[in-house]
Amino acid sequence: MKVTKGIRTLDDLPLEGRRVFMRVDFNCPLTPEGRVDDDTRIQAALPSIRFAVENGARLVLASHLGRPKGKRVPELSMQPIGERLAEILNKEVFLPEDCVGDGPRKVIMERVEGEVVLLENLRWAPEEQKNDEVFAQRLANLADVYVNDAFGAAHRAHASVAAIAKNFGHKGAGLLMLKELSFLGKLTGSPEHPYVVVVGGAKVSDKLGVLTNLLGKVDAILIGGAMANTFLAAQGHNVGKSRIEADKLDVAKNLLSKARSRNVDILLPSDVVTATAMEDEAVTDTVGIDNVPAGSMILDIGSETCARYAARLAPAKTVFWNGPMGVFEKAPFLFGTEAVGKAIAHSSATSVVGGGDTVAATGKLGLRPFFSHVSTGGGASLEFLEGRELPGVEALRDED
Ligand code: 3PG
Repeated sequence: MKVTKGIRTLDDLPLEGRRVFMRVDFNCPLTPEGRVDDDTRIQAALPSIRFAVENGARLVLASHLGRPKGKRVPELSMQPIGERLAEILNKEVFLPEDCVGDGPRKVIMERVEGEVVLLENLRWAPEEQKNDEVFAQRLANLADVYVNDAFGAAHRAHASVAAIAKNFGHKGAGLLMLKELSFLGKLTGSPEHPYVVVVGGAKVSDKLGVLTNLLGKVDAILIGGAMANTFLAAQGHNVGKSRIEADKLDVAKNLLSKARSRNVDILLPSDVVTATAMEDEAVTDTVGIDNVPAGSMILDIGSETCARYAARLAPAKTVFWNGPMGVFEKAPFLFGTEAVGKAIAHSSATSVVGGGDTVAATGKLGLRPFFSHVSTGGGASLEFLEGRELPGVEALRDED
């Protein structure tokens, strides 16, 4: 089934003069002083916001911010997000003090075509994460049309994402949601070959669902980060004091043998950067995989591994990358992530990058413009690639 089957788009929806409730994912990192630290997610929603404004909508934006657990946590107010959005749009963004009730209703009712309201943090309400029907209806009562552009939250069965949609005759996906589904859909549909997946990060368990689901489609999987240690340990290598998931050794062995039987190459590090401390000033040593000192940790892939991985990435036609190759936040262990990122950027592949850490690393390295698509969804992109239905996408389909 086409991933967007039965889902209407902004072009199909009546916008002029209508109150349009647009669920966005403005869950942006904030600085310790409470300002927006990275506005990528605001920028990503701009095409839909601008489209709605230019087409005369009275736009009501709604998002969660952080995990306030149903409490009014002032540090997680949408105010700094609204201020940043107002700067970018160069127009006033009206900020009611709550997300439902008389206050927001009044602010919304006073708006004219093209004006923008940003509701307060949806997760201040305990009902949001419970997918509460009554709360969803209260949100829905604020508008005439529902648009979901919050791909990053589409895997959450929450009231503003799931239960809300059935209250609207007019509902559809925003432009970011469609872009995400189109790129991620290519990775699971009929991708061009060679198709190479690069995974890293801490845990095998986080990526297991994706690897299992993609095993039948990809040609090679390149593994780095702490999760590679678990695979190396499963193969009997001595990984010193490196972080491993001792309870996942069998899972790792199983995946290696499934990959063999499906002719998928799994590449693991052949050399690694080691140190006794995970620090900016750490003294490092690059060693072959059978020479990891007993008292050291593996904290990045080595240069030989970078070259092997780059050679597999050069001819690739489709690449998905999720997870850094090392502890990229610390200068001595950034090299592997940088080398792999550059190899993907230099290939002619359709390249999709997902996951909070990977997206942060590519931002730090200035590589983002060189990928075909940088997903705004961490958990959502993984669940999609695991082959799971996303509640926020399913809720948008017309019943027929
Ligand atoms: C994200 O940051 O991945 C999304 O905004 C979802 O946030 P959550 O993991 O707190 O549900």
